Amino acid sequence: MKEMYFLRDSIESKINNSKDIIELEKIRVFYLGKKGFLNEKIKELCSINKSFFDKKDDNLKKIIFVNKIKENIKFKIQKKKIFLRKMFLEDFLKKQNLDVSLPGNKNNFGSIHPIIKTINKLKKFFFGLGFELKNGPEIEDIYHNFDALNVPNDHPSRSKQDTFWINSQFLLRTQTSSMQVRSMKNKTPPIRMIMPGKVYRNDNDCTHTPMFHQMEGLVIDSNINLSNLKWIIQRFIQFFFGENIKMRFRSSYFPFTTPSMEVDIQMQNSAWIEVLGCGMVHPNVLKTLNIDFKMYLGFAFGIGIERIAMIKYGIKDIRSFFENDIRFLKQF
Ligand code: DAH
Repeated sequence: MKEMYFLRDSIESKINNSKDIIELEKIRVFYLGKKGFLNEKIKELCSINKSFFDKKDDNLKKIIFVNKIKENIKFKIQKKKIFLRKMFLEDFLKKQNLDVSLPGNKNNFGSIHPIIKTINKLKKFFFGLGFELKNGPEIEDIYHNFDALNVPNDHPSRSKQDTFWINSQFLLRTQTSSMQVRSMKNKTPPIRMIMPGKVYRNDNDCTHTPMFHQMEGLVIDSNINLSNLKWIIQRFIQFFFGENIKMRFRSSYFPFTTPSMEVDIQMQNSAWIEVLGCGMVHPNVLKTLNIDFKMYLGFAFGIGIERIAMIKYGIKDIRSFFENDIRFLKQF
């Protein structure tokens, strides 16, 4: 047994003297590995056991002892590993000139695009009044974009200069008003819908981009009149721009509404700027969509999303929305 005690002590002292984790790992593999020293020792003792019966008891003791050594040094190695790791870390930190006042690495979080943010604000307002949301195709046909909306054949908006035509029947929708047609086609009154989305026009300068966003609103019901429209628009403008905003309705013309109006708000420099178009749905539109205009009336409005976002956030150039400059987007 003496030899066994010696073995145990020598392994323990090796563990104690190990200087780093690599050395410790080598010791572990050497003694505890599957084919390591201690397992081989047990094998050896087992084979002796078979041939020297007289030494049987002594060998058994040794085998039990080797197994104990195994358990014991496993535990010791684990403890030493924790200790070495701690030492390593302390040493590492000591050697480094650590400046805790330096700013850390920052993660860049994404932010919601100002256009989506604006649309979400509008949704919040109109959902509160019981409006439903409807989305529709950006590739439209003439019927939904122009014909059913009472747009005359020679109306300038149909011309190649304004509209991106795909062929003689299809185009990129120039206005979300096409969604009015889709709503009236698919639903019987009462209708209360908002329809936000992308629209396309052949225009490009600091206040126009070939693609921009609008949100269409449509209400069809019995007992609807102009004052309902004015109330909703007034409330909306105050909700979005603040209670103290000055606004005015100005009479205007759209083929699909009569009477038609545009809404302006007053800027700080006292200039008026147009933010939306609206009006009572034209009887021709109701007729085309088989809505009994003696029973039902309606109103519609179309809000330019970029326009109101630019005013609210003080953005000078509409193109900044689409240049993906992180310094711009980060501000929202
Ligand atoms: N579609 C019009 C445009 O793009 C905006 C508009 C005006 C929408 C009057 C409406 C409306 O629903 O009633 O300029």
